[in-house]
Amino acid sequence: MARKKIALIGAGNIGGTLAHLCALKRLGDVVMYDVIDGVPQGKALDIFEAGPIEGYDVNITGTTKYDDIKGADVCIVTAGVARKPGMSRDDLLGINCKIMREVSENIAKYAPNAFVIVITNPLDAMVTLCKRVTGFPKNRVVGQAGVLDSSRYRTFIAQELNVSVQNVTAMVLGGHGDDMVPVRSYCQVAGQPIERLIPAKRLEEIEQRTRQAGGEIVALLKTGSAFYSPASAAIQMAEAHLFDKKQVLPCAAYLEGEYGINGVYFGVPVQIGAGGVERVIELDLSEKEKKEMQVSVGHVQELVTAMDKVLAANG
Ligand code: APR
Repeated sequence: MARKKIALIGAGNIGGTLAHLCALKRLGDVVMYDVIDGVPQGKALDIFEAGPIEGYDVNITGTTKYDDIKGADVCIVTAGVARKPGMSRDDLLGINCKIMREVSENIAKYAPNAFVIVITNPLDAMVTLCKRVTGFPKNRVVGQAGVLDSSRYRTFIAQELNVSVQNVTAMVLGGHGDDMVPVRSYCQVAGQPIERLIPAKRLEEIEQRTRQAGGEIVALLKTGSAFYSPASAAIQMAEAHLFDKKQVLPCAAYLEGEYGINGVYFGVPVQIGAGGVERVIELDLSEKEKKEMQVSVGHVQELVTAMDKVLAANG
């Protein structure tokens, strides 16, 4: 069986980590693309040379030519600028719009059958633009946000209760901004509802930390944003597709009526398999959660409107 081909568009902090994880997990041959000549080639060679130690035989190459991503099965997009202290994800809109448009045109041209996972921020707008420009069907363009946000929530809950992270199941839905929605009614620790284990006030503090967890890392790093955990999150989504796992994961998916939302990318649980986003799962949310979802979708709609203005101004 031929190896799968995974194209990583953007070879910065997340791109490099993605390549390393792809190799360690033997997901397939990796092509790293970036506009800075030498960086994708150097990182790729470095990872390739660890093959004999780690025991992987996959090829890892770097390039500045889109031609090399030809025929990729999966494209993971991190091309763009990351935030610095004091910036919100939305502040990246102007610069990353231009980059995402160019990237999407090239994915459509060179990897027309790929399953595309977008990580670049502001996520909800960038994944919308990617779908529009590629013209790909909604099942083949998805945004990474919920897997990471849920992982952060699970981390903090496991830490609070001193239990294994593997015992904590949780979903964080909605847009990838400060009004994301940790869904308490679906959060359990070894089958027990979270509200039985952590007092409401403390749970609210944990949820607030979850909403601001990206900013917490930006404030510590000072020169960029999180990259290990976003890469792990996207790899989980890629694996679900490559191995046809039919795994339910919270992702930014294009909604057409689900949750009463139409024509917007929004964080909801979806099933990922060989067909990409095969199904949107509709949860029974509490009234409070439904209201929070409405607030969050309002913000995503504003963000898309702001993007449209930027695009119109840039021609
Ligand atoms: N085409 C391809 N790559 C590009 C382009 C372009 N037009 N413009 C910039 N890049 C590359 C940069 O050269 C850099 O190597 O994108 C890479 C981005 O890497 P980092 O700056 O290290 O950012 P990273 O931490 O990887 O985050 C990337 O993901 O989570 C989001 O907010 C984050 O939008 C940011 C993105």
